Amino acid sequence: MLKFLSKKSAILGVDIGTSSVKVVQARTSGKKVVLEKVGFAPIPMDNARTEKLEPSDLSIADAVRAAIKDSGSTYKDICCAISGDAVIVRYLTMPNMTQDELDYAVRLQAEEYIPFRLEEVNLDFYRLDPTGKETSKKIDIILVAARKDLVTRRMEILKSIGLNPVMMDIDSFAILNCIEANYVFPADEVIALVGIGATNCNINIFENGVSKFARDILAGGFTVTQSIATRFGLPLDEAERIKIDEGAVFPQDSSAPPESSGIAEVIKDTVEQITGESVDTDSRKNKLAVSIRQPIQNLITEVRRSLQFFENQANGKPINRILLTGGGSKLKNLDHYMSERLGLPVQVVNPLENVDVTGLSANSGKIKDLAPHLAVGIGLGLRRVGDK
Ligand SMILES: Nc1ncnc2c1ncn2[C@@H]1O[C@H](COP(=O)(O)OP(=O)(O)OP(=O)(O)O)[C@@H](O)[C@H]1O
Ligand SMILES: [Mg+2]
Repeated sequence: MLKFLSKKSAILGVDIGTSSVKVVQARTSGKKVVLEKVGFAPIPMDNARTEKLEPSDLSIADAVRAAIKDSGSTYKDICCAISGDAVIVRYLTMPNMTQDELDYAVRLQAEEYIPFRLEEVNLDFYRLDPTGKETSKKIDIILVAARKDLVTRRMEILKSIGLNPVMMDIDSFAILNCIEANYVFPADEVIALVGIGATNCNINIFENGVSKFARDILAGGFTVTQSIATRFGLPLDEAERIKIDEGAVFPQDSSAPPESSGIAEVIKDTVEQITGESVDTDSRKNKLAVSIRQPIQNLITEVRRSLQFFENQANGKPINRILLTGGGSKLKNLDHYMSERLGLPVQVVNPLENVDVTGLSANSGKIKDLAPHLAVGIGLGLRRVGDK
């Protein structure tokens, strides 16, 4: 985590996603999280978007302002996050040494581990033994390299609207912070936390509350909307509405029971992948099913790659289960489909599981609908300067 100030005060979590901005003012009370204020503002799909669908600086500024207004928060100190190819996370094991020696040694080694030149990144690292008193010969370190140009640009946008960014986190760490505040997990379980947003899928594999692997995949709910739009020849906003109202991911067309033969499905899926066409009759339902299934299969393939990469490392361990969150996880049946494909239990987690929302002015239906989108924002809103 990159810190810019060193005072201890409450801050507002500002999650700038590709499709919307979410802001969260939160605190802990005993073992519970209290949500004081929440705000949401969509970022319109205007022409100023880059190829990677990044919104323009202006539309980000407008949406941040609108989300803060929506929340009613008056905080100026904020914590935000970056994700995707703006940031790289690496896990190193080093000989045990003092903090000063470590500063030097990590910088020296960093170039080997990150695909950027050191001048181009903000480097931060922390040891996984937070007391720094570990007596073992080796210490584990998380190294975070964030692209300076992108961090600076984001800070400039926020400063231009009168905000004071005091911390910069990364999405996948913020999601873990939120889920840890909501659930208690068995210490010996290795869990893959997968946050599916509009364009980014944030993977964070953790054990005993500690991140062991983090990677972002360029895939998310938007790819599904795009696929529907292309197949049906519709504008994006209409495709989005169809996805939300009728969308679901099924192994087969939803009108027919699943075939018993696994091999038949593999052949059918492969033909669909290659030709981009549905093997089933061209009914609307089937067309919709195929247009959703294809991008989801690609996303799952990428998730599988990351899980296998982690498991196959020298100190890798088998993953016990997968937790899903993010707006993209609202796609019906995604958890079951993913579970079947990856052969692991998959659970959609609730970022508000252990959160007191009684102080919020928004109605409970709206909050419930917003909940899957709030994991990053809550994780950021719970950060305090001085935390590691
Ligand atoms: N009911 C729903 N069913 C399926 N998908 C949904 C539903 N509601 C929202 N989504 C999808 O959730 C995604 C937005 O989720 P989220 O707010 O987590 O993303 P983001 O933070 O804007 O994006 P990113 O983190 O990738 O930059 C969109 O792709 C949207 O289509
Ligand atoms: Mg997001």
